[in-house]
Amino acid sequence: MDVTALRNKLSQLGQDHLLEFWDDPDLTDDLRRSLYDDITGTNVEEVLKFFETSTANMNNSEKVDERMEPIPSELFGSVTRSGKNLDRWYKDGLKQISQGKVGVLLLAGGQGTRLGVKYPKGMYNVGLPSEKTLYQLQAERILKAQELALELTGEKGVIPWYIMTSEHTKEPTREFFKQHNHFGIGEDDLVLFEQEMLPCVSFEGKIILDQKHKISRAPDGNGGLYRALGNCKILDDMERRGVTYVHVYCVDNILVKMADPTFIGFCIDKGANCGAKVVEKAYPTEPVGVVCRVDGQYQVVEYSEITLPTAEKRSEDGRLTFSAGNICNHFFTIEFLKSVVNENESRLRHHVAKKKIPFIDGEGKRIAPEKPNGIKMEKFVFDVFRFSNNFAVFEVLREDEFSPLKNSTKSEKDNPTTARHALLSLHHRWVLNAGGNFIDSDGTPIPAIPSRRAHDPDCYPVTCEVSPLLSYAGEGLDKICNGKKFCPPILLNQANVIAEKQDTINTQ
Ligand code: UD1
Repeated sequence: MDVTALRNKLSQLGQDHLLEFWDDPDLTDDLRRSLYDDITGTNVEEVLKFFETSTANMNNSEKVDERMEPIPSELFGSVTRSGKNLDRWYKDGLKQISQGKVGVLLLAGGQGTRLGVKYPKGMYNVGLPSEKTLYQLQAERILKAQELALELTGEKGVIPWYIMTSEHTKEPTREFFKQHNHFGIGEDDLVLFEQEMLPCVSFEGKIILDQKHKISRAPDGNGGLYRALGNCKILDDMERRGVTYVHVYCVDNILVKMADPTFIGFCIDKGANCGAKVVEKAYPTEPVGVVCRVDGQYQVVEYSEITLPTAEKRSEDGRLTFSAGNICNHFFTIEFLKSVVNENESRLRHHVAKKKIPFIDGEGKRIAPEKPNGIKMEKFVFDVFRFSNNFAVFEVLREDEFSPLKNSTKSEKDNPTTARHALLSLHHRWVLNAGGNFIDSDGTPIPAIPSRRAHDPDCYPVTCEVSPLLSYAGEGLDKICNGKKFCPPILLNQANVIAEKQDTINTQ
């Protein structure tokens, strides 16, 4: 260890404080070694360059209204307005799956601070009758998509599942999948890789110490994906397998359609190299980013970046002009990803998040600040939209496809209860559409739109869960639901199909 050289270098960069506790009696030789490795393993010059560029406009609240335009209608598809094309896109997507051309990529490196659990969010169980976690639901939807593709084409394609983790989530995620036998996904078809962590920096540009012997770090944002794809040789793995299209999504949406064939077929039909799935913004001030064009380039614009009149602007059909709410669900061709990773990644700028970052004070005490005291620097996955010359947007129904688990039960929105209700309510509708009916334990029919009864909060929505292994999006349920009466809570899975077959044999 050449501590003198390190001290000199840090001094030139204005970061001498990182060695402030070097001679502290609390630091054993091992801890000193680990501090030395931590600092020398950090590209301090690069971090300071990121700090400079990302904070240059930190307090600039410039609005982009004048430069914004909605996505042109010819690039816009919709599950409610694209009519007969939907079936064609769906089948084409399944064909691509059967040819092994589709991979899914989960962004799971976030710290899940708002949900407040110590383990990765994908391991969360929202309390469904099956007790399935988000990871299990996603794994089973992949298996089902493969099966549907096989049924349509007679060819079995595998959808490799790439999971981007970070320092906090990698080991627990790996262990969890191992314990559960990868939920039926082939071990080789589940590829975990790790995004980078970046030091947290004070507003004055000093790298923060989390411990006397350790720099404070946070994942470099979900746009850290592009650097990780290159560094971890994930693009090479995709190419080796023949993956041509990648469906990228965020861990917390309980309704996510893995490798969604319709979305994939739509993007291919449009010749898009990059695409976004969106939901219609619920109301003008809903705090979601909107997908649009700024100065002719595709972009997600945060609500805080536009004025209220622009957020409230409506088109002739009465819809909000900027209605395409981003749900962190994207399509990329491998060629596009290659161009981002090899040519454009360094052009992405970090966004700044002001945070309360625990730090070691001058006396060597660890302080948890009450006010933001520094920044985390993050790249965003959608910031690459601007590199696309063939972009497409696909609008889906929120109640069918989007219910994110962001917050703990203390919050009213996007919490475990809203996520559970969204899934149960969707599956309830699937069973009704397949001709099933619901009755109370005393045989009284439950109306198709059950009222929320104050004395019985559990009766809404109807507790009806369908295993993804049985149905991906409501298809194929007729044979076990049509004309049947179900008394909730119910959990439909393959056992129902077996029981149904048995009944048919018995009555023959
Ligand atoms: C994200 C979208 C937002 C969208 C919302 C919908 C981004 C930058 N923002 O916001 O436009 O309206 O989802 O739910 O995409 N992650 C990493 N590494 C990180 C940070 C996050 O992999 O360093 C992952 C998370 O695990 C998660 C996803 O990225 O799966 C989204 O991150 P999150 O912080 O939850 O983004 P939101 O602020 O909710």
